[in-house]
Amino acid sequence: MNIAIIGAGYVGLTCAAVFSKLGHAVHVIDSDGHKIIKLSKGLIPFYEPGLEALVKKGFANKNLRFTRAYEKAVPNAKVIFLCVGTPPKKNGSPDLSHLFSAVESLRQHVAKGAVVAIKSTVPAGTAEKVGMRLKNAFMASCPEFLREGSAIRDTLHPDRIVIGVNTPEAQKILLAAHERLLGERVVTDLRTAEMIKYASNAFLATKISFINEIANLCEEVGANADDIALGMGLDPRIGKAFLKAGIGYGGSCFPKDTRALQSIALSNNYDFQLLKAVIEVNQKQREKFLEKIDKAVGPLKGKTLGVLGLAFKNNTDDVRESAAIEICQKLMEKGAAITAFDPQAMANAKKILPELKTASRAEEVFHEADGVIILTEWPQFTKLPWNTLKNKMAHPIIFDGRNLLNPGEMGKFGYTYLSVGR
Ligand code: UGA
Repeated sequence: MNIAIIGAGYVGLTCAAVFSKLGHAVHVIDSDGHKIIKLSKGLIPFYEPGLEALVKKGFANKNLRFTRAYEKAVPNAKVIFLCVGTPPKKNGSPDLSHLFSAVESLRQHVAKGAVVAIKSTVPAGTAEKVGMRLKNAFMASCPEFLREGSAIRDTLHPDRIVIGVNTPEAQKILLAAHERLLGERVVTDLRTAEMIKYASNAFLATKISFINEIANLCEEVGANADDIALGMGLDPRIGKAFLKAGIGYGGSCFPKDTRALQSIALSNNYDFQLLKAVIEVNQKQREKFLEKIDKAVGPLKGKTLGVLGLAFKNNTDDVRESAAIEICQKLMEKGAAITAFDPQAMANAKKILPELKTASRAEEVFHEADGVIILTEWPQFTKLPWNTLKNKMAHPIIFDGRNLLNPGEMGKFGYTYLSVGR
């Protein structure tokens, strides 16, 4: 099937690579000419494990192409997926201007009977509004559930494929486009499909804020949040995933989508109390961690602190809404000298915090440090020579914001070790 994908970000590129692997002929359109030139040489503008190899394969097989020109890619496409960003506006509501400008660019080129499917995260009713501008096409909402860092695996092996449609024609074409993928099909109406995405992200964010509240309480009553997460999570009605306590969620999705859902609720005169608390708890979690550092090391002015991890989570170079960035910024504002290391995200972090000093190796951040702070759960940090790194530090104190290390072992090595809810 001929497929056009509009937007070469995480979602667009991953879907393009996966659809081309499934045997479809995929054309990716992006308005950024530089990006298109790079992509045409097989260069991916961000770090995502496995994506470059898959893009190169699609390119070599000639079923993955990149262009800026809608007139080249859209007329032959049976399905056009809209994968453009919907960044937050100041009031939290999603900015749909990229989406509607893509729709304007494609409307004159869409073939009669093609399906235009929105993959971007958008409020209920958006597909209907887009449909009013595209008289010849069938509309659909196909939200995407991939995670950065495991985008290929999530897209190739989805738990579910949500297909929101208002015509049998669109349903038939989209079921055919996804034919070679496993995963349960949820076929529903447009508005419900759009809400499934917000509800999913908001629920996952709720799990994280819930376990963080439990972790805070654990610190008061002397219990262990990780064991509680396991003890709860083994109940299949609860599930083990997304119950890792720490410094709260970040990234380009949860913070944006929880605020967007809140603004959707507000604009519909609905007071979504639980969601409001989820967002507040997430902010509080960063602040509580900062207080923990301040209390143990403070006053922070003139102190030397090492930081391990800047990305919003492991396996990515993305620092958007990263808790690590906010924590580094606040520590620097309080006068601490920070040296940070991240396996992938240092260049992106420096775009936000140009004054941040970075190290070329993780071990360097321990040098003469009054404390070392773990802010991203990169598994390689567990393999550092913790038994000897202590000797490099001025004061051997570790703040583990991701509960990555073993408290008993760290105690044995002679560190003062503070984590979250343990
Ligand atoms: C999230 C969703 O998981 C995807 O299903 C969705 O498609 C995507 O948003 C999106 O809307 O595009 P992503 O933002 O890539 O994916 O990252 P997650 O793995 O969900 O992690 C989000 C944040 O929560 C990270 O900061 C992570 O460290 C934090 N987290 C996650 C926790 O603090 N505890 C956990 O137990 C799990």
